[in-house]
Amino acid sequence: MAKTLIAFFSRADENYFGGAMRYVKVGNTEIVCDLMKEMIDADVFRIEMKDPYSPVYMTCIEEAKRDLREKARPELVSYPDGIDGYDTVILAYPNYWGTIPMAVATFLERYDFTGKTILPLCTNEGSGMGGSERTIKQCAPGANVKKGLPVTGSDAGNSGAAVKRWLSSNGLL
Ligand SMILES: Cc1cc2nc3c(=O)[nH]c(=O)nc-3n(C[C@H](O)[C@H](O)[C@H](O)COP(=O)(O)O)c2cc1C
Repeated sequence: MAKTLIAFFSRADENYFGGAMRYVKVGNTEIVCDLMKEMIDADVFRIEMKDPYSPVYMTCIEEAKRDLREKARPELVSYPDGIDGYDTVILAYPNYWGTIPMAVATFLERYDFTGKTILPLCTNEGSGMGGSERTIKQCAPGANVKKGLPVTGSDAGNSGAAVKRWLSSNGLL
């Protein structure tokens, strides 16, 4: 039977919600992943930086901008042994400066995605998918990167219906 992996990056702590800064315990992307876990049978892997960005939003913004500019590949806390057992990887991440967080690039470049399907899901506050699908194709050559689902991060808790439709249109439901 086809196996699916949900690989996600998400940051809790201080974030921007409709004009105000607020500290949260669970990041927006993780909220969406928690909804997905209820809908499909999938393994889940958290893409987590060994040296995480600051809990302070404005500092995090600068750190992530520096990593993008330098094409950094931040080390992760752990790595799956392999992805051979999966045909589909749902890749969920926040839009950082118009593309994927560099830790997601670290994850992608570690494995051979040839022949695998990647379904990108990008939480954001207005930029949609940005250029993230293009970056994913560059980091995972040979993967079949499907049209992604943009989700408004601050409304992540209400994304269930859209997520369901997207999973269904990709044959996962
Ligand atoms: C470093 C950083 C850069 C961001 N850049 C963008 C951006 O370019 N466009 C956008 O719409 N939102 C941007 N955002 C907002 C996040 O994409 C949004 O809040 C997302 O839902 C956060 O997901 P998380 O809580 O799972 O980490 C940025 C947030 C951070 C922290």
